[in-house]
Amino acid sequence: MPSLECIVDGVRFANPFVVGSGPPGTNAKVIAKAFDEGWGGVIAKTVSLDASKVVNVAPRYARMRAAGTNEVLGWQNIELISDRPFETWLDEFRQLKERYPEGVLIASVMEEYNKDAWIEIIERVQETGVDAFELNFSCPHGLPERKMGAAMGQNTEILEEVCGWVNSVATIPVWAKMTPNVTHIVDPARAALRAGCEGIAAINTILAVMGVDLDTLRPEPTVEGYSVPGGYSCKAVRPIALRMVMELATMMYGGGSGSAIGRSSRGEFPDRSLSAIGGVETGDDAAQFLLLGASTVQVCTGVMIHGYKLASELCRGLEAFMEKHGFDSIDAFRGHSLQYFTTHAELVRRQHEVKAREKAEREGVVTKDAAWDGDAFVEQSNKLVSND
Ligand SMILES: Cc1cc2nc3c(=O)[nH]c(=O)nc-3n(C[C@H](O)[C@H](O)[C@H](O)COP(=O)(O)O)c2cc1C
Repeated sequence: MPSLECIVDGVRFANPFVVGSGPPGTNAKVIAKAFDEGWGGVIAKTVSLDASKVVNVAPRYARMRAAGTNEVLGWQNIELISDRPFETWLDEFRQLKERYPEGVLIASVMEEYNKDAWIEIIERVQETGVDAFELNFSCPHGLPERKMGAAMGQNTEILEEVCGWVNSVATIPVWAKMTPNVTHIVDPARAALRAGCEGIAAINTILAVMGVDLDTLRPEPTVEGYSVPGGYSCKAVRPIALRMVMELATMMYGGGSGSAIGRSSRGEFPDRSLSAIGGVETGDDAAQFLLLGASTVQVCTGVMIHGYKLASELCRGLEAFMEKHGFDSIDAFRGHSLQYFTTHAELVRRQHEVKAREKAEREGVVTKDAAWDGDAFVEQSNKLVSND
């Protein structure tokens, strides 16, 4: 039986499946349910010092379904971070750690561009005994208007400075959660790692407009007739998340055999961790992120669609994948598939090489000594002559 246990940044996870920050980690009751159902870890909904500034609207979700079915492919939200008081959260973090000492509880935090505020939130949350921090530099809507979330994650200099403040007081691991709404996700990630963060989490939601209602002519989700672009998640974003995780892992751990990626066989941050997020609903989805270098895999929208029981299906699916390939631990295959990324020019070169070999074989040209044949020996010799 393969083992799903993993130690990441010194923290022991019973399995790599972590509830991603959002509604499935919105209060102590639901976090307890996640631990009861066997999730390896839970990242609570993002908290800030002053929840009174956080005002949500309804409706705040919109879904894209596969044509003619109920299957949800894409999910858009315009939800903000937690609107629950900071002191309530501190009590709940304490209670949860008392009740689930083995459950990995990660606090997601976000603050304005203010050193004292960041230091205060880290110090006060840390006292509750949580296992790690995730810094939310990635919420794409609402909070950027206060220069928080993605606004901070899109500014590499500010991000590095804020991570420096956090790491000056944090005594537990710190993951920086990246926004995908940038041109090169490795740039802010590199800044966070340079500033001492133990890991990177990616991706948060992709800025999107779900659609326009063709009767009312109003964009969705519609609130009093108006809308804002929101964050897109679920299955539809998985290929983009896989690409970004691949880019991050290649930068951190080193990459493939091909020339461009393989040029640096060693990565820039080989000892840091990577937590993958985006459209995971099955063990096979998770296996793909692990094959691209992730140490843990987060699920947010998947829990909103399937419930907390998804944890056991994810574990079963991942174990089945590992058994099929004879992998006894996650480390046995983590990052394995990175080596198969290369440049397009290299793909062309490899294809030419294969075609040339096939042509030679079709024409009976001897390319290996073992192919010499007693009956066709003279004919084979002739085919190797260049100047007839
Ligand atoms: C309704 C909703 C609320 C979310 N709230 C937060 C949040 O408070 N903090 C955060 O870091 N990410 C938040 N996220 C982003 C998720 O944690 C995750 O990065 C993203 O949805 C992609 O993963 P998924 O496809 O598994 O949902 C939220 C996502 C959704 C759908």
